[in-house]
Order: sequence, then structure tokens, then C-alpha cells
Amino acid sequence: MIVVFGSLNVDVVMRVETLPRPGETVIGGHYFMVQGGKGANQALAAARAAPDADTGVAMVGRVGRDDWGRFATARLADAGVDLSGVVASAAPTGYATICVDAAGENAIAVASGANMDLTADQVDHARLRAGDWLVLQMEVPAAENWRVAARAKDRDAKVLLNVAPAAALAGRDLATVDILVVNEIEARMVAGSSDPAAAIARDLSRRHQLVCITTLGADGAVMASPEGRWRIGALPVEVVDTTGAGDAFVGV
Ligand code: RIB
Repeated sequence: MIVVFGSLNVDVVMRVETLPRPGETVIGGHYFMVQGGKGANQALAAARAAPDADTGVAMVGRVGRDDWGRFATARLADAGVDLSGVVASAAPTGYATICVDAAGENAIAVASGANMDLTADQVDHARLRAGDWLVLQMEVPAAENWRVAARAKDRDAKVLLNVAPAAALAGRDLATVDILVVNEIEARMVAGSSDPAAAIARDLSRRHQLVCITTLGADGAVMASPEGRWRIGALPVEVVDTTGAGDAFVGV
């Protein structure tokens, strides 16, 4: 089983010509509402990538007792994601305002709401066994991430940590991690270094004995493990919207 412990949001997305700078108002055209949250996006991508996997995908998170909570989980349910670990909170469902510019780049502001009520205790012990994967990101309380990761390790499950949004981590936070997925900004923040991404991936991998995958946007991704280093290009696509691209990568 793949257990995604993380955020669920409602995203309100608007297209603008250029992203607003501090103090600036920009006028966009249409907007639309869509299910989001890095955790939920990853769970959806995982379920869609392997719909027949007998192991299945489970989402563990928090939504509000509001209409948006139902909206945030609807697509996951359609994709067959197990939602028994999603609990309703008194706080409102997480909400993100997303501006996407003409080049497909985005600027995102998140009101975490119910996501900050998520606790490690919500993960059923039976879901973390040898062969299972726990997938973590940084949109929920970090202390709960580390608690559930320690439990996964004790039970021989594997841990994938996506350090998004970027956060500085202590070395001990990486002790339970098998696969670390970061973009270039996140890699520099985690390593506290401005070295090239490939060098950081190698260093993090050696230092913490893990696999480090650094996504490089249009340049693909680089992966470093204690055994070696690999680089893979990205498919040539016309960029429409980069929102959730990293989440889809992690989920798949
Ligand atoms: O990575 C994209 C996601 O970040 C959006 O879905 C938004 O909800 C924020 O969590």
C-alpha cells in the first residue's frame, strides 16, 4: 500500500498575463476551482498511474466540516483512493489561491486550515508494513511527519519525503527517509548549500544514506544513491501550467 500522509486543499486558479509583484494588482480572466493540496495531488497521481495495483493508495489527512471538504476528496474517491484516514476538523478546509502566468509559471498562497490538525495517530498501524510506502510533504505539521515516519521505519515500511514547500531540516529528520524528492530550490534549502543540484543530490545521498531525486523542470531530473548517479531528461511538452507538476512526479 502507498499511504500519502499530507495536505488536501481547494485550489482557486486564475490565469494572468504576469504574476503580481508585492503591492500590485493584476487583472486575470476566468478562474476555476479544482481539488489540490500536495498530498492529495500525489495520492491522485499514484492511483491514476497504477489503478490496478493490488496494494492500493490511501490518503491520510484533514479537511473541514464544510462543502469544500467534500469537494477536496471527490476526485480521490473517484480514482479509488482509500479515504478512511481523512478526518473532518472544526477548522476550514485548506485553500490555495494560484495565479498562473502566460508562460505557465505559478505563484501560490496557501491557507492551511484543517491541514494543521493532522496527527500521526490517524495512520492505522496495519497500513505500515514491510513493502508499504509512506509519502510525506511539508504542508502539514512537520513534527507529525517525523512521528509517522519513525513508526513506518519501526515497521519496515519505506519513507518518501518530498520537501515541498521548501524547508530547512535537521539531519535527524532525514534519518528515516529512503527517498528524498526535491526541486533545486528545496535541495539548496535542505543542504544549506548553493552548489549545483547534481552535487547536492550526491552529497545528501551519501551523508544520509538515501536516494535523492532532484527535479530540474524542463531539464528533467537527477537521482543520486550511495551506489551512483543518474540523469533523465524531460519530455518535450508545451508548458501550459506547472502547478502540481512536482506532485504528479512524486505520485507516479
Ligand atoms: O503543488 C501544487 C499544490 O500546492 C496546489 O494544489 C496547492 O493546493 C498547494 O498545495
